[in-house]
Amino acid sequence: MADFFTKGAARNIYYGGSVFFILVFLGLTLNTVQQLPKRDHRENITESVEKGKLLWEENNCIGCHTLLGEGAYFAPELGNVFYRRGGGDSASFHAFLQGWMAAQPIPVEGRRKMPQFNLSEEQVKNLADFLEWTAKVNTEKWPPNIEG
Ligand code: HEC
Repeated sequence: MADFFTKGAARNIYYGGSVFFILVFLGLTLNTVQQLPKRDHRENITESVEKGKLLWEENNCIGCHTLLGEGAYFAPELGNVFYRRGGGDSASFHAFLQGWMAAQPIPVEGRRKMPQFNLSEEQVKNLADFLEWTAKVNTEKWPPNIEG
């Protein structure tokens, strides 16, 4: 090993690098914590949105779908389904989701199927409100296109 790369130099790189990246990590964490309240429009989390999230979890929708990129890749991304199937209009999206949930499973040979969850109209409304709230979270345009 060349003389300039001494044990001392190696140690300085090790400690210096560690401290540097710990500081970068802390800085990014702080930035995230500051950004979140500006982006998640938490003031619009109504009781219905909360119930919808609970239904989303209890029925394991994420076992097949992704939501803002998180979840399974069996079925479409639903982070922007409010815009895709509702055109950004609450009433149209509610109508779409009621119809969609009632129509499952769609009997088409060879097509991936979504189960029938037998949810009430009120529960589907809660899910629609939750998906609308999710779609309006400022994710810097993720998912990148309307088809998810
Ligand atoms: C077993 C897997 C599975 C589960 C669990 C599941 N889905 Fe689906 N879902 C699918 C599949 C597959 C499709 C696409 C079906 C098709 O195009 O015919 C789909 C499509 C959809 C669509 C339409 C998406 C679009 O772009 O048109 C919505 C909305 C939806 N699911 C909502 C839900 C909700 C809400 C839940 C939980 C209550 C749920 N899904 C649970 C498999 C699943």
